Parts: sequence; C-alpha cells; structure tokens
Amino acid sequence: PRLATKDLEGVTQYIASGRCKNIVIMSGAGISRAAGIPDFRSEGGLYDIMRKSNISVPRPQDIFTLSYFKKNPNPFYQVVSQLYGGAYRPTLTHLFIRLLEKKRILNACWTQNVGDLERLAGVSSWRLIQAHGSLDTQRCTTCNSKLDDRKMKQAVVSGEVPICEKRGCKGFVKPDIVFFGETLPLRFWLNLPFLKRVDLLIIVGTSLVVPPFAFIADRVPTSCPRVVVNNKSVWGIGGRENDLQCIGDCDEMVRWLVQLIGGYWKAQLDALWKE
Ligand code: OAD
Repeated sequence: PRLATKDLEGVTQYIASGRCKNIVIMSGAGISRAAGIPDFRSEGGLYDIMRKSNISVPRPQDIFTLSYFKKNPNPFYQVVSQLYGGAYRPTLTHLFIRLLEKKRILNACWTQNVGDLERLAGVSSWRLIQAHGSLDTQRCTTCNSKLDDRKMKQAVVSGEVPICEKRGCKGFVKPDIVFFGETLPLRFWLNLPFLKRVDLLIIVGTSLVVPPFAFIADRVPTSCPRVVVNNKSVWGIGGRENDLQCIGDCDEMVRWLVQLIGGYWKAQLDALWKE
C-alpha cells in the first residue's frame, strides 16, 4: 500500500478505504499523560521529577534496575505509590485503540505501559501485548511467591515496601513489570512473527528509545506505512518511503483522525468516551 498523501489525511483515506484491515499500535507513556500519569523522559516526566526530588539514587533509571531494587526498593516504591493509590481513566487515545478493535481492524496493541489503561478502555487481552508487564500482579524477588493484590496495595499506599509472606522468606516483593536486566514476557516474543501481516503501524506516545520494544517497528513489511503520532519527532522512523511523523498532542490527533475518516467514527469515539 501507498499513502495517497504523506500527511494525516493520507492515513485517514487509507483507513477509510477499507484496504487497511490489520492495524498495529505501538504505544508508550505519552498516551497516558492526559490521564495524569507522568511519562519518563519529558520535562515533568518521572526521570525529571526524580532528578528534582530528594529521592537519592545514582541515576533515575536505577529504580527500574533489578540489581538496584534488590538492594534498595524504597525509591521505586516512593515513585510508583501514586499509581497504586489513584483511579486513572483511559484517555481518548486508549479509546481510539478500542474503537479500532470494535471496527475489527486492530491486529494488536503492543504497549510499553504498565498501568493497564488499554484493558480498562476495553481492549481485549488477546489483542494486548504488554511488553513491559503490568502492575496488576506481583511476586517475591527471592522465592518468586505471589502476593495478594489487596496486601500489595495496602503496603504500597501506606508507604511500606511489600515483603514476601512465605514463612522464613521476607524477600522484597516487586510488581510483574519488566526491569532493566530482565527478559520480556514470552507473549512478546511469540507474537513477533505476526508483525509480518500488518497494513498500518501507528506508533503513539513513545520516544521509541528502549530496546527491544523499539525494534518492533522494523519488523513490519517495508511497504507498510509507519505513522508516528507524538508531540516530538521520534528517531528511527523516516527512512522508509511510507514513513510519516505527525507531531502534536496524541488526543488532539485522534480527534482529527476520526473527523477526517468520517462515517460514524467520531460519534462512536464520543460514545466510548461517555461510557
Ligand atoms: P518516554 O517518556 O520515553 O516517551 C514518551 C513520549 O511521549 C515522549 O516523546 C513525549 O514527548 C511524548 N508525549 C508525552 N505526552 C504526549 C502527548 N500528550 N501527546 C503526544 N506525545 C506525548 O516513554 P516511553 O517511550 O513509554 O521502561 O518509555 C519507554 C520505556 O522507558 C518505559 O516503558 C520504561 C522506561 O524506561 C521500563 O521501565 C522497562
């Protein structure tokens, strides 16, 4: 396929044409900013907040490093406790992904986000590849035993480090999110071959700098249009004929997209928003 014009309108024409039946989304923390969850690398993002705070770690990324967590899990829990306490609502971009599924043109949503907002938006589990895991479950870093969700939340929200309850263990409990130094879930690796059958790749709200997630973008066929929707340009997308970067706020872009596609898209997205 070829985009008729190399802009958002070209993308919407392609979607509206009915020829685009397998859309893959690659998403990152930028799509959850409007829900009140900071991203990582922007001004006001997690790494920026940490640099300006009194949380003492050698480098902000260390809190997501397994070896560091095993020595000192406190900074990690100081930073993520907010995510356990708050009630976050999916954004318009999350609902757009759901709408693609309702339209039966979503092949899969590959996300780096761990907050589960895609699922909350209604995206089916089997279409969702949470490449960096999820905050939904947790286990001990010493003996691998699971900890009850309620106990996990209770500990984190009250400012404590959750501790394994298995007799004699007392290891630190960590959510099942992928830290630097850990391998990605099996589901990520098993789904890679399906990227060969994609009609359109939309990369949204991610700086696309963390491997191996970032490499997925190169797995789609060279003829497949790759569209970045981000408020900053993303390195690595632009070298192929059908590459396109749409720079702006993702929710605003989504509003535009549904309007340009026409039909009932806008009304259907509005309906999902009101649900
Ligand atoms: P980043 O913080 O690296 O990138 C988020 C991107 O979204 C940035 O380019 C922002 O400019 C952009 N952005 C923010 N708000 C936006 C908005 N409203 N509309 C459009 N764009 C917006 O977050 P990720 O790419 O998700 O890994 O980070 C990838 C991984 O790095 C995370 O999963 C995490 C982190 O280390 C682990 O913890 C393993």
